[in-house]
Amino acid sequence: MKKPYVFITRRLPEETLGNLQEFADVRMWPYEEEPIPRETLLKEAKRADGLLTMLSDKIDAELLTNAPHLKVVANLAVGYDNIDVDKATSRGIAICNTPDVLSDTTADLTFALLMATARRLIESAEYVKGGHWKNWGPLLLAGTDIHHKTIGIIGMGRIGRAVAKRATGFEMEILYHNRSRNEEVEQELGAAYCSFDEIVERSDFLVCLAPLTAQTRGMFNEQVFKKMKPSAIFVNASRGDVVDEQALYHALTNGEIKAAGLDVFQNEPIGADHPLLSLPNVVAIPHIGSASVETRMVMAELAGRNIANVLTGNKPEAIVNEKVLS
Ligand code: DGY
Repeated sequence: MKKPYVFITRRLPEETLGNLQEFADVRMWPYEEEPIPRETLLKEAKRADGLLTMLSDKIDAELLTNAPHLKVVANLAVGYDNIDVDKATSRGIAICNTPDVLSDTTADLTFALLMATARRLIESAEYVKGGHWKNWGPLLLAGTDIHHKTIGIIGMGRIGRAVAKRATGFEMEILYHNRSRNEEVEQELGAAYCSFDEIVERSDFLVCLAPLTAQTRGMFNEQVFKKMKPSAIFVNASRGDVVDEQALYHALTNGEIKAAGLDVFQNEPIGADHPLLSLPNVVAIPHIGSASVETRMVMAELAGRNIANVLTGNKPEAIVNEKVLS
């Protein structure tokens, strides 16, 4: 019998593929950083039974309607806003992701970004490396305290909770806003639920971890930045499209907020000419939330198992549109 065909859109270490190769014909795009051209992706999707995709691959209606054999798309990310889930569901294609396994790693990065922005770590490191450190000064590169401040977490899912846990170590007041209340987090970590307006107004650190949806797209706009404290720091580790970047630029240059730490951008990858990069009060990093070697290996293994399970008629460990299984 002909083996199912599985295509992986970036080079992954062979050892992460587990037993996928035993029952499937597995091919992968041979480059780790260079993205697969759209035409090649469409061609591969046309013959694939399973696709292992990256968050940068657009898995849209065009691709899904021209993939007659496709049964599963396993995204190497917890977020899946790059995939038209409704279209996939209507075609009976399972969409899988990689939740849980990356929560602590992404929370570590989010907190590191918050700290780097507050304490001006990147600016300070560049200052030393650039040979500018000639004297010590009492306010030389002085930043903002983190301990005992108020952190506002927008999106209290698994990553939000892991960030809140880290904030307890800094004795921070923890506020959160989410689609629904999370009483466990309230009891365990002392987090207080707030309306969106209240969290925006009260937070010293406003941290976005909410997924990108029709409701969250552009939620951080001109009005929101105007309501924040002028001393507040905005941190985004979810998706760039939750922010109106022009409004953020305006807020940062007009003293409406103090600084921003950004792991994600509206049109990734951004070039060196992106206006936000010209600002000293912006710390920008290239969407590396879950990028530790350990976690990326575990994510790849989970994505591989998700494909293997769907193609062998078993329930995958992480599926976004469970109703396609029934
Ligand atoms: C995800 O998994 O969605 C994260 O954005 C990766 O860093």
